[in-house]
Amino acid sequence: MMDILIFGASGHALVVIDAVEKQGTYRISGLLDPNVAAGEERMGYPVLGKDEDLPAVMRTTGAQGAIVALGDNRLRKRVAENAAARCPDLVFVTVIHPAAVIGRTAGIGPGTLVMPGAVINAGARVGMHAIVNSQAVVEHECRLNDYCHIAPGAVLGGNVTVGAGALVGLGARVLPGLRIGASAVLGAGGMAICGIPDNDTWTGVPARAKG
Ligand SMILES: CC(C)(COP(=O)(O)OP(=O)(O)OC[C@H]1O[C@@H](n2cnc3c(N)ncnc32)[C@H](O)[C@@H]1OP(=O)(O)O)[C@@H](O)C(=O)NCCC(=O)NCCS
Repeated sequence: MMDILIFGASGHALVVIDAVEKQGTYRISGLLDPNVAAGEERMGYPVLGKDEDLPAVMRTTGAQGAIVALGDNRLRKRVAENAAARCPDLVFVTVIHPAAVIGRTAGIGPGTLVMPGAVINAGARVGMHAIVNSQAVVEHECRLNDYCHIAPGAVLGGNVTVGAGALVGLGARVLPGLRIGASAVLGAGGMAICGIPDNDTWTGVPARAKG
């Protein structure tokens, strides 16, 4: 069983720890967080240092893998890229809670987290370091690019594309075939009935650009 490290020791790290334990594929050595004192614990696992301590912590623990447990898309990208630059041999692991339902022909990239109750249906592709959160539905043949986040209870119809770093908020819905742009946000409860341009924030039912 591979030993892994978790970047981040905030609330999101708690759900990641829970999913890793239930998945049963990896053993957690500890956490890295620049804002938490080394020696503190989260759910019984020690904070071992800051992000820049990664090479030393890999040596002392023997950990070869990691996942970035940070909900903020831009921060997750920065931390993952810095870690990969520091330690090119680090393996980013895919964490899938056993209560998620994954279609046989779906593909899920390294560093991505899939939470309980999520459905990723046949033919869907999810990139690296994405989050498909609790009870989110990603229908057939969707394309989810790296570092995006599909929040709890959000629903994507078939063939939806979600750009890199985009956030589909809590309970939001996207009609089939649409594209949510890179780094765009569809606010909680919103319903996209047309595509959303890159970097835009849209809200409401039907969703409109937020002024
Ligand atoms: C849309 C969103 C990004 C806006 O954030 P913000 O810019 O900080 O917005 P504010 O809270 O300052 O609110 C600004 C206005 O937008 C409205 N608004 C905020 N969120 C809204 C939403 N989801 N739907 C409709 N209106 C919303 C507010 O009522 C406010 O209206 P007003 O100007 O008429 O008073 C945010 O509210 C949101 O929905 N984020 C998604 C959160 C999420 O699902 N995270 C995942 C957690 S796991």
